[in-house]
Amino acid sequence: MSTNVDHGQWSSRLAFILAATGSAVGLGNVWKFPYIMGENGGGAFVIVYLVCIFAIGIPVMMAEVLIGRRGRLSPGNSVRALALEAKANTKWSLVGWVGLIAGFLILSFYAVIAGWAISYIFESAAGNFVGASPEKIQNIFNELQTDPSTLIMWTSIVLAVTGLIVGKGLKNGLERAVTYAMPTMFVLLLVIAGYAALNGDFAKTIEFMFYPDFSKLTFSGVLIALGHAFFTLSLASGAMMIYGAYLPQKTSISQSVVAIAIADTVIALIAGLAIYPIVFGNGLEATAGPGLVFVSLPIAFGQMWGGIVFGTLFFVMLGFAAFTSAIAMVESAVAWLVERLAFSRGKAAFTAVISLWFVSMLTVFSFTGAEWAKLDFVFVGKHVSNYFELIDHLTADVLLPLGGLATAVFVAWIMQKEAVKQELNLSEGLFNLWYVTLRWFTPVAVLFVFLNLIGLMSFGS
Ligand code: PHE
Repeated sequence: MSTNVDHGQWSSRLAFILAATGSAVGLGNVWKFPYIMGENGGGAFVIVYLVCIFAIGIPVMMAEVLIGRRGRLSPGNSVRALALEAKANTKWSLVGWVGLIAGFLILSFYAVIAGWAISYIFESAAGNFVGASPEKIQNIFNELQTDPSTLIMWTSIVLAVTGLIVGKGLKNGLERAVTYAMPTMFVLLLVIAGYAALNGDFAKTIEFMFYPDFSKLTFSGVLIALGHAFFTLSLASGAMMIYGAYLPQKTSISQSVVAIAIADTVIALIAGLAIYPIVFGNGLEATAGPGLVFVSLPIAFGQMWGGIVFGTLFFVMLGFAAFTSAIAMVESAVAWLVERLAFSRGKAAFTAVISLWFVSMLTVFSFTGAEWAKLDFVFVGKHVSNYFELIDHLTADVLLPLGGLATAVFVAWIMQKEAVKQELNLSEGLFNLWYVTLRWFTPVAVLFVFLNLIGLMSFGS
């Protein structure tokens, strides 16, 4: 194995921030955050989510980026190098490996859902939502989910485009893609939010999102907020470690990480401000669940002035957001193939997306209801009924929290304090605050949440 591969570096601090924000901002912000906020009562959930981002997400993200930058290799090899530096057991490299595998597994279903978003660009542009009844729109969604050939086609397109971008390399592929996609995505989101504010029920949205009613917050809502904080910041999935591996030495990790976390949070909130006025303005419910963006929103766009244009732009925006996350999920595996097998980037990206394609079929055929994709057992506290549910639960509820916990333990307990200090270059006070948080608060909070999640879930099922 070659551990002296030079993967190159981002050309600027801005390039890193755009790429990492691109990784963070995705379906999690625009599709998932609005509906879990809706299901968990709005304002009070938003507050808990913000606390999780700032008290747990930011410290863990700093830890991941610093591992990457000090190791300068794919996650497993970076952690291994740092374990050697600290004269610790090289089995710690598992921390990086779990991330790489989680990123890979997440992409296997993320690509399928991103495929729905891309197909909706065409559904919307073709005018299929205009004046359509809720039943008709529900049918469009059901057909999309249950027709294998359509699902396979869109999933394949998503993976192929992801592979092409990643195969072109750091500067010509990733960096160029995020430089165009992120500003475009942001402008589109603002345009849609403006349209929603003018044409929907903005006042009700503000009340819903920013006037907390703690009686609506449940314990499981708190757990969901923490899990989502990990997912939305792309933590414990290799992404932030590998993007950190390309970070120039002089760039401040803490300032960049805070900027990325704030950008991710602001975009999630704007997504809520873009979606809910349209939902409320058309008398639809906030508790629609996963169908909020794929069913409720099209129903609303179908009734509204300019719905074809703004509906289409919405799904274009969602597509951009999804692609800049997808490339981050596969990058660790690609970097590892380059290190381990001395593949060119193109060949590594091709190998990674072909393998992903096969794994993604587990999700495709879970949605279509194929017999062979059905499961029926309890896995880590939750009953799973198909491969998609298994992979989703395994990553979101098990690998991400445990990976985050292990990262915190590795950086705050195993690495030499001096090495960590050197990478972060913070004032004494700030460093200590961060160090104590990572050493004590993060592991305890995550463990508490993880154990409860498992307990709660076995309770519920
Ligand atoms: N953060 C992305 C989102 O919110 C998902 C993601 C997870 C991206 C893990 C990269 C790695 O959609």
